[in-house]
Amino acid sequence: MTATPDYAYYKGALAGARLPAAFVDLDALHANLADLRARAGGLPIRLVTKSIRSVEILRRVLATGPYFQGLMCYSPAEAAWLASQGFDDLLVAYPSVEPDDLRAVAAQVRAGRTITLMVDGAAQVQRIATIAQLEGVVLPLAIDLDMSSDFPGLHFGVFRSPVKGPGPALALAAEITRHPSLRLDGLMGYESQIAGLMDQVPGQAAKNAVIRFLKRRSIPEVNERRRATVAALAAAGHALRFVNGGGTGSFESTRADSSVTELAAGSGLYVPTLFDHYGAFRGRPAAGFAVAVTRAPAPGIVTCAGGGYPASGPGGADRLPRPWLPTGCSLIATEGAGEVQTPVRVPTGVNLAPGDPMLFRHAKAGELCERFNELLLVEGGAVVGKAATYRGDGQCFF
Ligand SMILES: Cc1ncc(COP(=O)(O)O)c(C=O)c1O
Repeated sequence: MTATPDYAYYKGALAGARLPAAFVDLDALHANLADLRARAGGLPIRLVTKSIRSVEILRRVLATGPYFQGLMCYSPAEAAWLASQGFDDLLVAYPSVEPDDLRAVAAQVRAGRTITLMVDGAAQVQRIATIAQLEGVVLPLAIDLDMSSDFPGLHFGVFRSPVKGPGPALALAAEITRHPSLRLDGLMGYESQIAGLMDQVPGQAAKNAVIRFLKRRSIPEVNERRRATVAALAAAGHALRFVNGGGTGSFESTRADSSVTELAAGSGLYVPTLFDHYGAFRGRPAAGFAVAVTRAPAPGIVTCAGGGYPASGPGGADRLPRPWLPTGCSLIATEGAGEVQTPVRVPTGVNLAPGDPMLFRHAKAGELCERFNELLLVEGGAVVGKAATYRGDGQCFF
């Protein structure tokens, strides 16, 4: 591979591919894997499936060694489907009480797989207990600990779990142990405001400084909350198999909490644009998509077929796919990434003809896979294989 793959590299690699096409650069992916491993400092990493969404890629990553252990899934139906294909040690990171999905999980647990479901309240616990009892299985549960920080006038973090510390965690653990069809298996405390918020964005010096300041204040507080909650559960006799924490952007601070037994990461593999600018690490773009230039409506502008794949989250320019290669290209503010075609401003000296690829990167990691049936696997300057996405496997969980 060239040191930094450029437009000519990918144009050559993708020559002959039908466009639009999504791809994963395996060389960059493996370099990103090595970085994550080094940053984990010896803790195992649970692979976040929502940021991968391809069984073939999940298998490849898990096969690289013992550093990656288990999967963090986003729905019970997904976890049951993955379990049916041989994956094990699956943690569903978000609560769900969908009866069909829970029954599918119960069937896999009965068959010997470990699938742990997430809860943060008694109502979920009771619904899951009823189904587990009817299905004749004991389902393992994990408690989702809220890891946001409340500063005067500012909620720094996400709105997810109402479990805000040892007291509510102990109460929930007691509720879980009341049900013979359930057992408490672990705890997850995900500090999204540290792990998923860029703090070194070019041109935003003041905002970066504020975010870094808030992160510095939040980290000791939430680490202590997680540590104290785990200690309180242990003192009450709840032995946890795992304590999961962090995400791609927070390995360094998460592993400073000695109660954490494993980290979680997914975005650090493909490295989408929302993971470009962190002080703690620098990944390599390892996934993208190519659309075909179809016409040139004005000097300095080409229009491409497809491209309108915005990411979830607060609507804004940072959620749009970004023209990547050739370098210097940009979206047009009045059109953005279009439903069936996308105009792109190209810099002087860049000449693109109909049929040439325009390369984009997605803002988030796994959502790209909801737009494509397969990922072309690029290695050493050529397409060396294909990997079906969840969509290509006919799976859609949300
Ligand atoms: C519970 C949980 N853990 C970890 C992560 C980190 O995942 P990633 O590294 O893919 O950003 C996320 C992402 O949103 C998450 O929701």
